[in-house]
Amino acid sequence: MRQTPVYYYSSASGLVRSFAERLGRPVFNLAEREHRRSQVDGPWVLLTPSYKTGNEANDTIPEGVHRFLNNEHNRRLMVGVMGSGNRNFGRYYQMAARQIAEKSGRPMLFEFELAGTPWDVEECRHLLEDLDAALAARHDGQPEERPTGD
Ligand SMILES: Cc1cc2nc3c(=O)[nH]c(=O)nc-3n(C[C@H](O)[C@H](O)[C@H](O)COP(=O)(O)O)c2cc1C
Repeated sequence: MRQTPVYYYSSASGLVRSFAERLGRPVFNLAEREHRRSQVDGPWVLLTPSYKTGNEANDTIPEGVHRFLNNEHNRRLMVGVMGSGNRNFGRYYQMAARQIAEKSGRPMLFEFELAGTPWDVEECRHLLEDLDAALAARHDGQPEERPTGD
């Protein structure tokens, strides 16, 4: 069965990378140019931290994530969003992941703080295995067409 890959962004502190590398599936770091410029080969999941900028716009979405999502093909095949954050940031907690989920209409699959606990990793592994199975059950592995409403 295909393992849905996770594309993540992680800064030099590497908290998200530490989490991603414990998921036991293909993971790609969007802080690396090679991955930021790549095209996905099927459904994938985004994992992003939030970084409050402190300027007026307070855009919390990392630049590498913005760039990857600028690609229409990648955007279309994204099936869900996960976030790492820190509750100390109050109303900005998980802002980047939540904004992307809302704008793209994709579900927020999982949230955790910093590098996550062993329990978080275990929970997330199960959730992604269920997602793999659900995607494999679709006849062509592609995202379903949305109903047009007519
Ligand atoms: C300057 C700075 C700004 C941050 N802003 C937010 C924020 O707005 N919301 C949030 O939930 N977490 C925020 N965080 C916490 C990070 O998203 C969190 O620690 C994440 O795990 C970092 O992942 P990384 O080490 O892989 O880059 C911030 C952290 C730093 C250092």
